[in-house]
Amino acid sequence: MKLHHNPASPFVRMVVVTAHEAGLVDDMELVSTGVFLPHQPHEGVIGDNPLGKIPALVLDDGSTLFDSRVICEYLAAQAPGAGLLPADGPARWRCLTVQAVGQGLCDAGVSLRYEMGVRPAEFHWDGWIEAQTARMDRVFDALHDVYFEDLGAIDLGSLTAAVALSYMDFRFPDTDWRRGRVKLADWYAGMAERPSMKATEPYVL
Ligand code: BEZ
Repeated sequence: MKLHHNPASPFVRMVVVTAHEAGLVDDMELVSTGVFLPHQPHEGVIGDNPLGKIPALVLDDGSTLFDSRVICEYLAAQAPGAGLLPADGPARWRCLTVQAVGQGLCDAGVSLRYEMGVRPAEFHWDGWIEAQTARMDRVFDALHDVYFEDLGAIDLGSLTAAVALSYMDFRFPDTDWRRGRVKLADWYAGMAERPSMKATEPYVL
């Protein structure tokens, strides 16, 4: 399988982390998009994903999966022994909800990154920046106060949350999300030591 990839994207990273945890990373060829600009999607990506978004995973039969949540679920299904997504019951819905919380944190962060780092300064919209920042703050609180018990297992929920918090450190180092959230900070420190996380640390092309 072939993954359209950029090492700065948290959505791509969720997939590669999941592939590591599922023992499938050696079956995955990473195809670089080069510098990724949201308003100039890569032609090679568009060829496989009409949305022009990464990640997109091209399977060996030529079919393509996207977005990151679909790909992660696919990878989890290829390695049921890894326990990355509970098969059914409340544990499954909790796991998927925590995944959605982590995904939403990445949505807010990437949206903010585009607004502040890509959009021309004269078009910056303070209200949008404030709304994304407030959303991020609410997620930090929710991970610490509401979902913490669900972060104990290594599954799609906890891995996505860890990748999302790492993206905060990568793109918003002044966001002091650890302050007043000691148990979340300690949990993240442990997650960050996992080989899957260490092998996928983000960087800018
Ligand atoms: C980033 O550079 O932050 C980024 C790159 C690709 C997708 C999303 C975010």
